[in-house]
Amino acid sequence: MILKLNPISRVQLDRFLKSVTLSEEQEKYIGGIREYADSVKKREHVVGLLLGGIVIGILKLDPEYSEDYPFAGEKELGLSGFLIDEKYQGEGYGTQCLVLLKGFVMKNFVEASAVCLTVNFRNKGAIKCYLKSGFSDTGEIFFGGNVGPQKVMRLSI
Ligand SMILES: CC(C)(COP(=O)(O)OP(=O)(O)OC[C@H]1O[C@@H](n2cnc3c(N)ncnc32)[C@H](O)[C@@H]1OP(=O)(O)O)[C@@H](O)C(=O)NCCC(=O)NCCS
Repeated sequence: MILKLNPISRVQLDRFLKSVTLSEEQEKYIGGIREYADSVKKREHVVGLLLGGIVIGILKLDPEYSEDYPFAGEKELGLSGFLIDEKYQGEGYGTQCLVLLKGFVMKNFVEASAVCLTVNFRNKGAIKCYLKSGFSDTGEIFFGGNVGPQKVMRLSI
């Protein structure tokens, strides 16, 4: 089945958030499913990972990430709120999503020089997924997370 990244509407987002499940531990890493829709900033773009037309995962891209995160450069996009529905985890979709992300950013954010993110040190699954898809661990530590220190990771575009 075809896997692709597409911007999604508020209606599609709400529908996805109603049906998605994550473990309690995993929910903490994205700040909660119920809180997700309200946490989307006006300037952020919500992107869906579609498997044969069905949204199985989402992420947010912030073109003005450097306004809130001093480690990011002005031309660096911020990635956050990345999740794959529990029902589809462990099948490589998370990694494939991030591999597709590079092309998506090149096409839709032509000025972007990199994608930056923070990830909790304890979130081994996500860290592995980022490393497998080309992100590098910058060695910087961000202390602003809700559930402990975070690694700063970056993907050059
Ligand atoms: C992180 C996440 C998106 C990965 O999605 P996924 O579709 O399961 O990812 P993949 O199937 O591509 O797996 C990536 C790798 O991580 C490994 N992995 C998954 N969970 C793991 C865990 N808890 N501990 C160690 N490795 C783990 C997988 O085995 C795989 O490695 P492999 O290919 O060598 O076997 C998903 O777990 C998720 O939605 N987590 C909750 C939200 C979250 O933490 N988001 C990131 C916030 S920064």
